[in-house]
Amino acid sequence: MMNTLRALIISPDKELTENLEGALSEASFTVVKEEELKDESLQQGYAVAFIDDVFLKEQSSLWTPPNMYVVAVAKERNFDAVRAYMKLGVYDVIVEEEESDRLKDLVHHLKEKVERGEFSAATADSYQAQGKVLSFYSSKGGSGKTLLSTMTAQCLKGKHKKDVVIIDLNAQFGGLDVTFGLEHNRSYYDLKPVLDELAIHHIQNVAITHEQTGIDVILGPSNPEQAEEVEDELISRMIRVCKEHYDYVIVDMPSGVSALSFMGLNEASHIYYVLNPDSMSLRVLKHTLTLFDRFQLGKKQGLSLILNRTDKKDEMTEADVKKIIEVPVGGVIRSDYFGLQPLLNMGMPFFLGNGKKAKTKVTKDVERFVEKSVVS
Ligand SMILES: Nc1ncnc2c1ncn2[C@@H]1O[C@H](COP(=O)(O)OP(=O)(O)O)[C@@H](O)[C@H]1O
Ligand SMILES: [Mg+2]
Repeated sequence: MMNTLRALIISPDKELTENLEGALSEASFTVVKEEELKDESLQQGYAVAFIDDVFLKEQSSLWTPPNMYVVAVAKERNFDAVRAYMKLGVYDVIVEEEESDRLKDLVHHLKEKVERGEFSAATADSYQAQGKVLSFYSSKGGSGKTLLSTMTAQCLKGKHKKDVVIIDLNAQFGGLDVTFGLEHNRSYYDLKPVLDELAIHHIQNVAITHEQTGIDVILGPSNPEQAEEVEDELISRMIRVCKEHYDYVIVDMPSGVSALSFMGLNEASHIYYVLNPDSMSLRVLKHTLTLFDRFQLGKKQGLSLILNRTDKKDEMTEADVKKIIEVPVGGVIRSDYFGLQPLLNMGMPFFLGNGKKAKTKVTKDVERFVEKSVVS
């Protein structure tokens, strides 16, 4: 295994070379350094090559072996240059000064790829089976979309060992940053410049891997102007690329009907409508179902309800809902404010990889829902 981890650094810049070597050695790559780009060097069976972009600037083509990952190292961020390097077949571009954190992530990401024997050629990805896209939606805010999408993702990952990415389609105060306790620094807005050649490594660059659970989390832009600039196309491409790479793509949808929420619903393999058992929520659902009909949503995708925050004293029971609405009920989740609050306040995950889970009614019910309606 060890001898497959060979990396080449090509740069005349001593300091840069040292930085790269540090990051690569730390991830147990064996490193060879060269000061100039020569075709022969690229043919020596390296798994990874970091090439200073002084050598790529004037290049109109670059021959690299199909199983080698080439990373361009740029002095500054310049989207035209990034595009040009991507066209040369470079796997990723890293900006020297700005991205020391990302360098580490990238090196680990490449290491995993190499160890799994995946090839860099784009065609390799298309052999993979497609994952499922589960969109959590309701027209009403505060019904529990963010909480239940978070828990479902954590249960799929922690208990069922699935590869999971969760996407926050709520612009601005999304909520996944809170349920996962994450800082809001990268978002899918950053995918805009690479939209035309969007690939999984771009997505993994903007995703944040949640430490305690191992789930990849993609947050929305926190800046409202940026949020407005996100095209529907970006959302739909992002979801499609994710689907090729993960077992489950969980989408936390905003409330209401907009172009963006339409995209998140349209790309879904299954829509879970989160319904609180009260007459107001039910009225909103009925209205939404007529909209779904009009936009042909929910037939192709599959639609079910999750009754959330149920309580013995409810105005309405599961049986009542079933009488009024024809959509199947995929899950029933009890209300447990006092069970959840301490966990939410501390930003604690609900399900962990070691099989441990928080003891609340909600986690118990989500576990049952996942077992019965999602993985079966
Ligand atoms: N089953 C439940 N029991 C107790 N509190 C809940 C439950 N479901 C959701 N909540 C709480 O309700 C609030 C709104 O939930 P959230 O997931 O943010 O809704 P949405 O994303 O639909 O706007 C949050 O404070 C959440 O913790
Ligand atoms: Mg929400």
